Amino acid sequence: MSVIKVAILGFGTVGEGVYKTIHSHAQELEGVLGSKVEVAAVLIRNKQKKRNIDEDVLITSDFNEILSLPQLDVVVEAIVDKEPTFTFLKQAIRRGSHIITANKEMFAHHGNELLELAESHKVSVGFEATVAGGIPVIQTLRQLLNVNRVGTVQGILNGTSNFILTEMREKKQSFAAALRLAQEKGYAEADPTNDVEGFDAFYKTMILSRIAFGKEPNWQNVEREGITSITRELIETAEKLGLRFKHIASISKIGSQINAAVKPTLVGKSHPFYGVEGVENAVNVHSDIVGRITLQGPGAGMFPTASAVIEDLVYVCQNQLSNKNFTNITEACDGEKKGNEKELWLIQGLSKNDNNPLITWVAQATDETAIIQASREEIEKLINQQKATCYFQIIGEYEKEIKNKEVTLAVL
Ligand SMILES: NC(=O)c1ccc[n+]([C@@H]2O[C@H](COP(=O)([O-])OP(=O)(O)OC[C@H]3O[C@@H](n4cnc5c(N)ncnc54)[C@H](OP(=O)(O)O)[C@@H]3O)[C@@H](O)[C@H]2O)c1
Repeated sequence: MSVIKVAILGFGTVGEGVYKTIHSHAQELEGVLGSKVEVAAVLIRNKQKKRNIDEDVLITSDFNEILSLPQLDVVVEAIVDKEPTFTFLKQAIRRGSHIITANKEMFAHHGNELLELAESHKVSVGFEATVAGGIPVIQTLRQLLNVNRVGTVQGILNGTSNFILTEMREKKQSFAAALRLAQEKGYAEADPTNDVEGFDAFYKTMILSRIAFGKEPNWQNVEREGITSITRELIETAEKLGLRFKHIASISKIGSQINAAVKPTLVGKSHPFYGVEGVENAVNVHSDIVGRITLQGPGAGMFPTASAVIEDLVYVCQNQLSNKNFTNITEACDGEKKGNEKELWLIQGLSKNDNNPLITWVAQATDETAIIQASREEIEKLINQQKATCYFQIIGEYEKEIKNKEVTLAVL
């Protein structure tokens, strides 16, 4: 029987999960591929660390040793940072190997170059694990895009931020205390900037945009805000209104323009993200034939992420992944909201006595906090006039919830 030889770059959470899953699911892999899958080599940085790896596997910190293997069908990359990763993967492609990556930062920056290079060398690139861990969002989008036109994609893409917001609400903790707990549980890094300032979700959003719409917006024009401005008091006020803060990435295409934002947003009970708690991720896709679908599941962790990598392994070995749906999309259906449409906002620091003609008052939550209706442009004008201290968009069908009086507040 033929053998598929795999090298795994990195033996941390993801790399070890992939290694173990190739062993634990050897029969299933053999069944679907008709070949045995074998790990031929593992790349690590620290050769002194003890690892649970079979003796016949090459363990090295020199990538050239891996490139020199007599057979190298697939290179799975699960290390960190843009370099040397990007260089390693270009070398692997030139050597004729399929590549699979879990590294969203590298792929958001260099995905297009890798895909083009792979196409010219007739190999495939798998990157399911770069977005929403174990949730098969990329494969689902590819499948949908065979005929559907996608209008809007929304996602809770950073499990650490979602965990912190959940802890703050459920246990009435401060941001600092919830972050400390996330670090103790291994969900957040010692330096949590990438997660709590929204960079991690931003990279994933750019990858999703390329899949859904064939291109990404200019990075400079994307609103990126993390969760560090969300206080326990804000969360409590929102809860009284039947609203929950979620860190949401949204991408939509209006005409030829792609709009994207990654920021704290409020959702009511009728929104599918309302019950997405802890480290879970979720992705909501709106497209013209099927309508709205929501995928929810573990966004990170050893085996959920390994699952995404292993699914890619099957696809690349069958050579089924191509650049299709990554760069060639010409049609999309229009996203749901237009820039000058009225939307709902929770706003702080604005007095009804201001009689501001730009906005419509919907409900008063506290002396300081109200729900208003205004367009995005009007909100921006208000902020420029320094008439409000902070504001958060409410998405979903919250108007109906207010009308049904599911929330306790003074409806104006
Ligand atoms: N953790 C998750 O749940 C998750 C989910 C989705 C995607 N990802 C992405 O997957 C990648 C790996 O994440 P992880 O959590 O598995 O990281 P990790 O636990 O920190 O492991 C990183 C591994 O990479 C090795 N490494 C780092 N730099 C290297 C270099 N220059 N040369 C050779 N080896 C190097 C390390 O070697 P040593 O062991 O010798 O230190 C370690 O084995 C990241 O890009 C991450 O964003 C992670």
